[in-house]
Amino acid sequence: MSLFEKVKPVPPDPIFGLAARFRKDKRSDKVDLTVGVYKGKDLKIEILRSVKEAEKILIKTEKDKGYLSMGGDEKFILESQKLIFGEALCKQLKGKIFGAQTVGGTGALRLGGDFLMREVTKSAHLSDPTWPNHIGIFEACGMEIKKYPYYNKETHALDFPKMVDYFSELPEKSLVVLHACCHNPTGCDPTQSQWKELSALFLKKKLIPFFDFAYQGFGKGIDEDAWAIRHFAEQGHEMFVAASYSKNFALYGERIGSLSILAKNEQVTQNLASVVRRIARVNYSNPPRHGGEVVATILQDLGLTELWKGEIDQMRKRIEEMRKDLIDALSKQFGKDKYSFLKRRCGLFSMLGLEGSQVDRMIEEYGVYLTRSGRINLTGLSEDNLPNVLEAMIKTAS
Ligand SMILES: Cc1ncc(COP(=O)(O)O)c(C=O)c1O
Repeated sequence: MSLFEKVKPVPPDPIFGLAARFRKDKRSDKVDLTVGVYKGKDLKIEILRSVKEAEKILIKTEKDKGYLSMGGDEKFILESQKLIFGEALCKQLKGKIFGAQTVGGTGALRLGGDFLMREVTKSAHLSDPTWPNHIGIFEACGMEIKKYPYYNKETHALDFPKMVDYFSELPEKSLVVLHACCHNPTGCDPTQSQWKELSALFLKKKLIPFFDFAYQGFGKGIDEDAWAIRHFAEQGHEMFVAASYSKNFALYGERIGSLSILAKNEQVTQNLASVVRRIARVNYSNPPRHGGEVVATILQDLGLTELWKGEIDQMRKRIEEMRKDLIDALSKQFGKDKYSFLKRRCGLFSMLGLEGSQVDRMIEEYGVYLTRSGRINLTGLSEDNLPNVLEAMIKTAS
């Protein structure tokens, strides 16, 4: 009899579990639209040229593999903050932003969540729907999960009035997790005027915005995608940002991200920095080096930064092309109105508005894998597999 006889397995992860099922599927015409990774035309994850070039430099210049400090590498943190807030705002906010290098965007969310649970609040308000791991992360911090209205499945649009009503009722210091751009899973973002309204409301109600910024550059552009974060920062919020460099530097397995916390004054920033560093210390001690060194090497070199920006443009272009091809194909089949909402979506993901039971059939009968919410990763599509996806959608529509 094992000492662990009572351990019960947890259900498979809603996204990675499906990807594992996909890998086992023997059908040659199967299609993977599940995990949020950017795939090129050949449906493979590419190593960026800018990353390869940076690694060549690092081979020559790297002196040791010693420990980083608990908060990570200062030059990476500075470059990350410039990318998120823009150079001018970074200067303006100097001393008030604490930064930590983290184990991906997930690590940044967890580090921030652990800090907030310990010091500020015992619940997290998440968009309905959201990236499923948000629920797991903030639950693991010990928080109670609450959901705010976000997406109206009937109209395929943001439920802005309901969202505003919900936030208006929240008590001071409530933690609200916001997707800075390319909302996952819906691909539906607030407009700039809606962000302005939210910023004013959050200030009035003294709410704590925690931006998840995992797709910078995949929506409208590197600076454009940071608009909401920069606007909130300019308006004087105390706020959190979890940035991920998994997607936009294609450094998935290197686990690189950053946590930024903007506070009212330098003393508060220093105090909270000491707590966050302690949380990191007892968790993983200090972050891994390589990903941060690659990102910093690229962003500190003008030529490499240009190369990387060009690569981001290419990725965004492919996302847009696949969105257009999908909309064209759906319009031919279902008429031009039914899926016209997809034109207003942004970034890697869109929700097709399918029922879970239809998704189950698409997977089982046609080998077309997407999450049960009906979310697809547009770069899982190609000219070759689009007809399979369409056939699966048509044949399983009731
Ligand atoms: C919305 C969102 N936030 C955060 C992350 C975490 O990214 P990372 O792989 O860097 O931990 C993801 C990854 O899929 C995501 O979709």
